[in-house]
Amino acid sequence: MSKNRDIQRWAAILAVISLVAPFIIACSVADPATVPTPVPQGLKPASELALLMREMTAFTDSTRLRSGRGEELLPYPAHFDRMLTATPTDGKLDIDRASFDAFAHHYLGQLKDLYDTPKADRQQVFNGTVQACANCHAAACPGPLVRIKKLYAPMELSPSAK
Ligand code: HEC
Repeated sequence: MSKNRDIQRWAAILAVISLVAPFIIACSVADPATVPTPVPQGLKPASELALLMREMTAFTDSTRLRSGRGEELLPYPAHFDRMLTATPTDGKLDIDRASFDAFAHHYLGQLKDLYDTPKADRQQVFNGTVQACANCHAAACPGPLVRIKKLYAPMELSPSAK
């Protein structure tokens, strides 16, 4: 009986040692002087411009889905004009300010047109807003183009093209 208990106790001790051993070994091998200090990655907070762009992306995606269901436009996002003044990552754009502003004004003009266009013609004007995103991104920051291309609304084929 007591022999059984001894075996159980030793089994428990061995189990604990086998769990802890790798850590003891790892710690004793690692020389603190040679271990590189971990560099925090992906912790840089998103810039003001990047956050606005994320909101613009969500807005464009919702608008596409809503118009596909025949629903009304979202309230006009007047604050998107803050893209003209929002601080970009590291405080600088990858494009000169005059070009950026021209692309931005073109986008904001398309957005305004969308709200001035009768419902029946909105799909095409909507795609014009997406094209305005893509125009600036082709020049300024091509990474999000993959995401932007998915925002186009499918166009109905005209009866003659069917
Ligand atoms: C006038 C130029 C311009 C226009 C127009 C523009 N963008 Fe951007 N966008 C940028 C720049 C520059 C950045 C990089 C921002 C930064 O790193 O601070 C960016 C960043 C982004 C990002 C990445 C955000 C992140 O998480 O880092 C997405 C997604 C994006 N834009 C989508 C869009 C969409 C969708 C539109 C249209 C609704 C649009 N952009 C219109 C210039 C533009």
